[in-house]
Amino acid sequence: MASTFKGLYYTDEENDLIDTLRTNIADIKDQYKHAIAMTALIRACIKKRPRGIFTYTGHRYNDGRKDLKKTLAQQFLEAVEAVNKAVFDNGQINYSKQGDAMDLIVEQADLVYIDPPYYSPLSDNEYVRRYHFVEGLARDWKGVKIQQHTKTKKFKSYPTPFATLKGAAEAFDHLFRKFADSILIVSYSSNSLPTQDEMVAIMAKYKQHVEVIPIDYRYSFGNQSDAKTNRNSVQEYLFVGY
Ligand SMILES: C[S@@+](CC[C@H](N)C(=O)[O-])C[C@H]1O[C@@H](n2cnc3c(N)ncnc32)[C@H](O)[C@@H]1O
Repeated sequence: MASTFKGLYYTDEENDLIDTLRTNIADIKDQYKHAIAMTALIRACIKKRPRGIFTYTGHRYNDGRKDLKKTLAQQFLEAVEAVNKAVFDNGQINYSKQGDAMDLIVEQADLVYIDPPYYSPLSDNEYVRRYHFVEGLARDWKGVKIQQHTKTKKFKSYPTPFATLKGAAEAFDHLFRKFADSILIVSYSSNSLPTQDEMVAIMAKYKQHVEVIPIDYRYSFGNQSDAKTNRNSVQEYLFVGY
C-alpha cells in the first residue's frame, strides 16, 4: 500500500494502517475471524473512499459526508462489529466459489439466483475498473497483474460475456439452459439490454412459467458509476422462471 498505492486513494498514514492491518490479519489463524477482519478492512476502505470506487485517484468527489469524516481506524472498528453481527448459523454447510459463472459446475440446485453486470450501450459495466483495489486487497493481489502504467494501478480485467449485448444474450441463454432444472431468478435493470421482452423470451425457452417482478430501486452507496444515465429513475426487475 505504502509504495504501490502511495498518493492515489488514501493518505500516507492511512496506507500505513492498511499495511499494518493486512499484516496482522494474515496472522489470524481462525479462518472465520480472518474472514471477518478482512471483510471489515475492505468495507472500511470502500466507506473511506469518495463514491466508493477506484476509477479515479485523489479526492475530488469528497463531499464531506459523515462516512468520509470518520477515520479509517474508526470505520474498521465499526465494520468489525457490523460484519460480526451479520454472521448467523443457517444450519447448513455453505460454500462460496469465485470464478467465471460460465464454467461453474454445481450439483443440482433448487434455486439459482443470477445478478450479472447490467449491459447498456450508454455506460460501461466494468467491475474490475471500479473495484480493482478492493478485489486486489481481498486476494492480496495474487493471481492478478497490476498494470503499472495505469494511473489507478488497476489490474487487467477478466473477459466476461456481459461486456457486449450479443455476449450478454448468449450468456443468459447458456446459463438458463445449464440450470434449466432449477428455479431461476435474475436481477436486471430497466435501462439494460437485452430488453425485458427479450429476457422473457430467452427464459421461456427453458421454463414453463416466467414472471417479471418490477422493483423500484434507488442506487445507493457502492453502486454508483460515472454513467450519464439518470440512475434514480431506474427500475430493477426480477425475472423468475419455474
Ligand atoms: C451486479 S454485480 C453483483 C453484485 C452482488 N450481487 C453483490 O450484491 O455484491 C455483478 C458481478 O458479476 C461479476 N461478473 C461479471 N462477469 C462475470 C462472470 N462471467 N462470471 C461471474 N461473475 C461475473 C462482476 O465482477 C460483478 O461483481
